[in-house]
Amino acid sequence: MGSSIDIRLETLTGPRAGGAGLPSNGKAFFIETFGCQMNVHDSEKVAGVLLGRGYQQVHQPDDADVVFFNTCSIREKAAQKVFSRLGLLRPGQAPTKIIGVLGCVAQQEGEEIFERAPWVSLVCGSASYRKLPDLLAQIESGNRRVMGLDLDVDETFETELTRRDNPFRAYLTIIEGCDKACTYCVVPLTRGPERSRASAVILEEVRHLVDFGYSEIQLLGQTVNSYRDPSPRGMNFAELLVAVAQVAGIRRVRFTTSHPRDFHPEIVQAIEAVPAVCNHVHLPVQSGSTRVLAAMQRTYTREEYLDIIAMIRASKRPISITSDIIVGFPGETEADFEETLSLLDLVQYDGGFSFKFSPRPNTPAQHMEDSVPEEEKGRRLAVLQEKQRGIQLARNEALIGQTFEVLVDGCSSRVEQWAGRTSCHRVLNFTSPCAGSASAGASLLGQYVQVKVKRAGPNSLVGERIT
Ligand code: 5AD
Ligand code: SF4
Repeated sequence: MGSSIDIRLETLTGPRAGGAGLPSNGKAFFIETFGCQMNVHDSEKVAGVLLGRGYQQVHQPDDADVVFFNTCSIREKAAQKVFSRLGLLRPGQAPTKIIGVLGCVAQQEGEEIFERAPWVSLVCGSASYRKLPDLLAQIESGNRRVMGLDLDVDETFETELTRRDNPFRAYLTIIEGCDKACTYCVVPLTRGPERSRASAVILEEVRHLVDFGYSEIQLLGQTVNSYRDPSPRGMNFAELLVAVAQVAGIRRVRFTTSHPRDFHPEIVQAIEAVPAVCNHVHLPVQSGSTRVLAAMQRTYTREEYLDIIAMIRASKRPISITSDIIVGFPGETEADFEETLSLLDLVQYDGGFSFKFSPRPNTPAQHMEDSVPEEEKGRRLAVLQEKQRGIQLARNEALIGQTFEVLVDGCSSRVEQWAGRTSCHRVLNFTSPCAGSASAGASLLGQYVQVKVKRAGPNSLVGERIT
């Protein structure tokens, strides 16, 4: 598919918002998303498909004829959530709504979802979303239960319509699925093998996004930097980054998530050479212990990871680094955990996420002895988060007095504070009257403004606008 149409948020306000003048079929849908940015963006595309078929979008399941849950199964807690949501929708007598389960739980549980919640009529995993219009048509023609669970696909989910939630930053998938085999992770099982999209299609979509007013693009992929252009152009990830950043009208390009194995110096060179490429890298380490990394099958050692960090830190342009960390992986000893803590000291991450290991169905780690007691996992997580909090606070405090450009993406009228993000992905709030308040000036939403940092917390900065 060569081009896509983007339905902007502004055209979709109101309790039963329609799709930018598309003919209505009189029905409404609700979609709730759990999990990662890939899921958020998939939901945007699913919403686009539904709007294209004449559905309207509503913001309460009660108002909807069709209810979709786009689910996450990365950890057990996330997976459980969907069943509690489904429980709330159990119909009294005759089923009144079409209920669909999408995403990773759909892929993982498959038909069993119909057993656990017989009022569900559609189950579809992300690797089969290109079939969604067909599946919906089958339901509309009276089919009670339909499924899309094929994983063996060489296509990506490309839609004519995408209904993006954020009016300033557009998500754009460049690579779907994952070919890595981390032993704890369900993603290769739920999202299927890696498929990169052709660079020409991506670049055309970027040009469309500029036409729709977006100036910041976030390139998405489970291992975004494993991107390999399948077309004869054969761009690598760094080349694509530069090409996207050079599209007229693009001010910022972000990318997430990077895998250390495929993190090459060219990426740092692209960040250095092209100011529109944001100076932030999300580079999950998962553990600081080479022994645990081997058990996780992360394909790098602690030392190799630290070499990559040194390469990034040596850049002429300061680059923020964030990470994901799992504590309590099977066999993780106190000494292994201490290595993770010492890695935090060495790397000095600017932010990140940390989790207790959660055994997932059909992953190799599910069959390893979950040897760290729950209580100990909790303790390790608290220790790690406390340490990281201190590091972030110190790193943020070091920025006091510096001026950053922020893209303004929110406003709290209660405190008359605007919220923005720096290129290095920090939240930088600043005081200035908000639109709608008594002392309101012009809206700053979607604008790039210069802000001088005055105060710092572990998770955000506060500053003053420089005009
Ligand atoms: N248990 C805990 N955390 C996990 N993650 C992935 N799988 C698991 C699991 N089974 C974490 C990793 C990954 C992030 C998205 O979720 O840290 O980078
Ligand atoms: Fe999961 Fe590893 Fe692939 Fe990331 S790289 S999605 S953690 S298997």
